[in-house]
Amino acid sequence: MKNISTVFLTGMVCGGLSAAAAQLDLSKLPPASTQKDVTYAKDIRPIFEASCFRCHGEKEQKNHLRLDSLEAVLKGGEDGKVVVAGESAKSVMVIAVARLNPKKAMPPEPRNGRGRRGEGERGPGVQPGTNAPAAGAEGESHNERGRPMMPPPKPLTAAQVGLIRAWIDQGAK
Ligand code: HEC
Repeated sequence: MKNISTVFLTGMVCGGLSAAAAQLDLSKLPPASTQKDVTYAKDIRPIFEASCFRCHGEKEQKNHLRLDSLEAVLKGGEDGKVVVAGESAKSVMVIAVARLNPKKAMPPEPRNGRGRRGEGERGPGVQPGTNAPAAGAEGESHNERGRPMMPPPKPLTAAQVGLIRAWIDQGAK
């Protein structure tokens, strides 16, 4: 049984090679806004409400992350904290909304066809052939192809990202 030690050694050497961490270019982050007294309730919640609650709110909590209360934002998600108070450039949240890493950009790119899709596609799929009473509330969002009726959330603007940075840099209150 001389070989066994060789096998073990080889295994250990190979296992030692770990993937180098992906480098993100933090200089591409939009600068923090100069606005004073940025607060979650006043400035940040409305941004999240428009672009994020759909997947990180009452109904769905992707990554176990809720963004609809300050406590929940600070608590973070499945992979831990997303906000490092005082250090916006180190906050996963900022990296995500600034879309530095396309695979982790938030809100995510809409994907048609292949690719990862959030489970639980919402939106009342219009059933062709069903004589549903006129969907009055939905107004102009027709879709003959059965696509989800909700438009995908737009990426945040540089100004919005800057405001989120200012909020975090000021202590995420
Ligand atoms: C269409 C659904 C959807 C929307 C809208 C959305 N997210 Fe997400 N979010 C996800 C999913 C799915 C994940 C977990 C999988 C992943 O990391 O790609 C996630 C994960 C995250 C994470 C954790 C990333 C990490 O690496 O730990 C953060 C932070 C986040 N989202 C912030 C936001 C913010 C801020 C918004 C609004 C500007 C937003 N998300 C909008 C689906 C969404």
